[in-house]
Amino acid sequence: MNVNLFAGMGSHQSARSETNTWFSPPAILDALGGADSFDLDPCSHVDRPWPTAREHYVQEDNGLILPWFGRVWLNPPYSIALITKFLGRMAAHDRGVALIFARTETDPFHRFVWGAASGLLFLRGRLNFHRPDGSRAEANGGAPSVLIAYGMEDRDILAAAPIDGAFVPLRFNVSMLMSALTPTWREALDGFFAGRRGEAVSLAELYRAFADHPKTRANQHWRDKLRQVLQRGRFERVDKGLWKRVPA
Ligand SMILES: C[S@@+](CC[C@H](N)C(=O)[O-])C[C@H]1O[C@@H](n2cnc3c(N)ncnc32)[C@H](O)[C@@H]1O
Repeated sequence: MNVNLFAGMGSHQSARSETNTWFSPPAILDALGGADSFDLDPCSHVDRPWPTAREHYVQEDNGLILPWFGRVWLNPPYSIALITKFLGRMAAHDRGVALIFARTETDPFHRFVWGAASGLLFLRGRLNFHRPDGSRAEANGGAPSVLIAYGMEDRDILAAAPIDGAFVPLRFNVSMLMSALTPTWREALDGFFAGRRGEAVSLAELYRAFADHPKTRANQHWRDKLRQVLQRGRFERVDKGLWKRVPA
C-alpha cells in the first residue's frame, strides 16, 4: 500500500516560508527503511520532533563543515544558497537520499542532481511538512517535491519504495546496460541461423562467428555455453559437429 502523504490541495505554505524548520513527514523516512537506516542527517534541529537518522548535525554545529558518513538523509534549509551547498556536499558524498522541491530548471538541480544523482522519485501531490511539536501543517509545502537517490544502493531502495510518484532512473551500472542491450544466447544463435536460411552450420564456424561477440567477453566458458544452448534450444545435430535450426 502506498504511503498517504497528502492533505487537500486547497491551500499551501508559502514556498518562501520564513522558517527553515519544517520537518520531513515521518512516513517518507519509514518508506525508505526508517530513520535508523540513515547514519546521518547533516541539517537537523535541536527541537526535532523525531529522529531522522542515527546522528544529527544542527545549525550550531554547521553540518556543512563537519564530516559526512554512511547513508545520509538530507532535507536542506530552504534558501538557494544553502540548498546549493548542501546538495553539493551530497553529490560529493554520493550515498543517501535528499528531499527538495522539484525545481528542475535551477542551477543546483542541474549541477548536483541531473549531473550526479542515481535516481529520482517525483512525488504525486504535495507534501505537508511538520512543526517542531510534530503537528502536521494544514497547508502543503507550496511546491512539488522530489526524492533524490545518490549511489546505486539508494537508487534501488527508492525505486522499490512504497511512495506514490514517478521514479526516473538516472545512472546505470555496466552490467545492467549490457544485459539490457545484449541478446540472450538463444536470440543470438537464432539470429545467426536465420541468416543461413536453413543451411547446416559447423560448430567451428559458430565458434569463429561468436569469438568477438559481446556475450563471449563476459564468459570465458562461452564455448560450453554455446553448445549447451544448441542442445537445449530449437536446434538439431544433423551430423558430427554440424547443426541446423529446427523450423518453428
Ligand atoms: C528543512 S529543515 C529539515 C529538518 C530535518 N532534516 C528533516 O528532514 O526533518 C532544515 C534544517 O536545517 C537546519 N540548518 C540550517 N543551516 C544549517 C547548517 N549549516 N548546519 C546544520 N543544520 C542547518 C535548520 O535549522 C533546519 O532545522
